[in-house]
Amino acid sequence: MPGPPHRAEGLTLADRVFATYPVPEPGLEILSAAFLVRVHPARPQPDREAMRAGAEGCRGMLTLVRDRVDAELLEALPELRAIANYGVGYDNIDIVEATRRGIVVTNTPDVLTAATADLAFALLLACTRRLGEGERLVRSGGFGGWDPQMLLGLELEGATLGLLGVGRIGLAVARRATGFGMKLLHVSRHESAEATALGSRRVELNELLDASDVVSIHVSLNDDTRHIIDASALRRMKPTAYLVNTARGPIVDEVALAQALREGWIAGAGLDVYEREPQVEPALLELDNVVLLPHLGSATTRARSEMARVAATNLVAALSGHRPPNPVNPEVLEK
Ligand code: DGY
Repeated sequence: MPGPPHRAEGLTLADRVFATYPVPEPGLEILSAAFLVRVHPARPQPDREAMRAGAEGCRGMLTLVRDRVDAELLEALPELRAIANYGVGYDNIDIVEATRRGIVVTNTPDVLTAATADLAFALLLACTRRLGEGERLVRSGGFGGWDPQMLLGLELEGATLGLLGVGRIGLAVARRATGFGMKLLHVSRHESAEATALGSRRVELNELLDASDVVSIHVSLNDDTRHIIDASALRRMKPTAYLVNTARGPIVDEVALAQALREGWIAGAGLDVYEREPQVEPALLELDNVVLLPHLGSATTRARSEMARVAATNLVAALSGHRPPNPVNPEVLEK
């Protein structure tokens, strides 16, 4: 009897992989050509037990950034050799434990850079020009005609954008900002020739907070960046300034942010990510001067399909004895 489409001949159970979600094509097509693929349906989201049961006996796993892969789960999956995370961030995975167990972890950089930078800029425009408030006003029937004082916002030309992080996405946001005539500052661990070439000046965090009209976050989440934007950071910002976060929620103390927005320490914010995703700090939901999006950074058809291609390609390489293109713990491969 013919097997399922694209399934390679001669596979054994040892070639099983588990995908926690039916990722877009060509992801599953690439995986199915090389492995027996077990796919968790789109809904409901797999809980811990479904992750363990789904990945049991599998050498590879394709995970989403919302799937928590911690030491306990890894302990329950002794056959696991590779995890391909569908996303550029991988703070959902215990990398130290995976590395200790010789499991290679990969991510999907580059292919989502433009989509995420576009979304960061969309949020920047949405909060500085008060698009959410305007939309709600019209929909509620409150638009009474043109008014010289209605919903005034920040003009970007000549305003200063402070970038917290100038990796791929931070730089792509910087390039967009130059088109709007913004001045650039950045905080980064190392000098960035690309940021300098765009006219950005590297400064300490406090100077960036003091001087920026918009602060946009583009660092990954780790012990150094968790709550880096806390109450004292928010108090340093100008009362006319805006905060945009398209990176990871826990970089910002959400309770402090809600207080800052409510009490006018800053003018507004645009958030795509949350501290306890998918929950949103209830105090934020009450406020008009924050634009809230449901983690849409890489949500373009092209980016999501390319992410699937890259994740699947990484998994195939890692499990067939080749170097995957995007390892995040390459030290595993040197052993
Ligand atoms: C990522 O890739 O880390 C994003 O948050 C998913 O869009």
